[in-house]
Order: sequence, then C-alpha cells, then structure tokens
Amino acid sequence: MFQAKRNKNLKNSIVIRPMRALEAAKVSRLAREIISALEFYTPAARSCEINKYSAKVLLRKIKEDKFSVLVAREGNEIVGFCINQDEGTVVWLEWFAVTGLARGKGVGRLLIRALDDSAKKRGAHKIWCDTRVNNFASIKLLKSEKYKKIANLKNFWHHQDYFLFEKEVH
Ligand SMILES: CC(C)(COP(=O)(O)OP(=O)(O)OC[C@H]1O[C@@H](n2cnc3c(N)ncnc32)[C@H](O)[C@@H]1OP(=O)(O)O)[C@@H](O)C(=O)NCCC(=O)NCCS
Repeated sequence: MFQAKRNKNLKNSIVIRPMRALEAAKVSRLAREIISALEFYTPAARSCEINKYSAKVLLRKIKEDKFSVLVAREGNEIVGFCINQDEGTVVWLEWFAVTGLARGKGVGRLLIRALDDSAKKRGAHKIWCDTRVNNFASIKLLKSEKYKKIANLKNFWHHQDYFLFEKEVH
C-alpha cells in the first residue's frame, strides 16, 4: 500500500495500492466506461485506447510488473486507476482516471503521487506522459505535481494534438 488518506469529502479513506488479479475485470470495465465518455478524443481514438486494456492485458501487465496498474479504493469500491509502463529507468504514464462521482476530491492527485513512489521503487528517474491539449483537468493536475511540458505534438495520434510532459523523480 502506498498511501491512505482521509479526505473530508469522501466517505472512507482512500487507499492506493497495486491492482490485484481479481480486480482486473473491474478495472478494465472502468477504463472502458471512463474512456468512452471522454469527448476530447475521437471515436476512433477512444476505441483504440479501450481495446488496449482488456482484463487479460492488465493481468499480463501486473505479472510482469506489480506496480504497472495502481488502483484507488474507497472502502470496497475502486474509484480510480493508474496504468503505466516501466520502460527501463523511465516510466510511461499510460492512463490515470477517477470515476465521475469521486472526482475533484483529491483521488487523482493521490494516484499521481503513488506513481511517483512506485517509480522510485523501480529505480526510475523520470516519468513521462501525454495529454490532449484540451484536457484541462489533467494538465492542471500534472503541472501542480511538477510535470513540465516538453513537447507540443500537432496532428499526432488519431490526427489530434497532444502535449508531452515529464517529471524527474528523486
Ligand atoms: C484528470 C482526473 C484523473 C483528475 O482526477 P481528480 O480526482 O478529479 O483530481 P483531484 O481531485 O486530485 O484534483 C487535483 C488537481 O487537479 C486539478 N483539477 C482536477 N479536476 C479539474 C477540473 N475539472 N478542472 C480544472 N482542474 C482540475 C486541480 O488543480 C486540482 O487541484 P485543486 O483541487 O487543489 O485545485 C479526472 O478528471 C479524470 O478521471 N478525467 C478523465 C480521465 C482523464 O482525462 N485522464 C487523464 C488522461 S491524460
């Protein structure tokens, strides 16, 4: 377990920890639900991303690296996840997301901080990620957690514009 924190807006403590095998189907379902609703991606981009995170793929990921899928739990519920890939001293943040009702209560920030801790544990010195240029919630959170914009990618995946961010971890 990385962190447990009580937030006055949440009924229970939030616990961030590596996903367990029996949670893979639930996390895959959540990823599908959340990504399907993201209007800043084209339908093709959404279905491409959803197809990457079947329960089978998530299970394979945690078998290779237990920190590659982190979950945020509030009581018995999974309210967020962070999927990432250790690329060898650098960790790629693939997706972090929080369920609709749990947003705006600090869960996303806890996931990003837990990713930092896990990157250090894996011997990484850097985390990097992309965001859509109009994903203001994600951009604001990343900047406030000291991620720096390193590139402005025009007409990139699925012909959409993205920013690349990086953060040094110490
Ligand atoms: C991005 C996301 C994970 C944030 O999760 P969250 O739990 O709501 O975020 P937090 O409550 O921890 O907020 C932390 C900070 O993020 C920023 N933030 C969060 N939601 C925001 C919003 N809707 N608008 C602007 N800033 C926002 C704020 O800086 C906030 O800090 P503050 O409350 O002190 O001002 C969530 O909005 C989400 O799941 N979005 C859909 C999936 C997604 O886009 N993932 C990122 C892909 S790159």
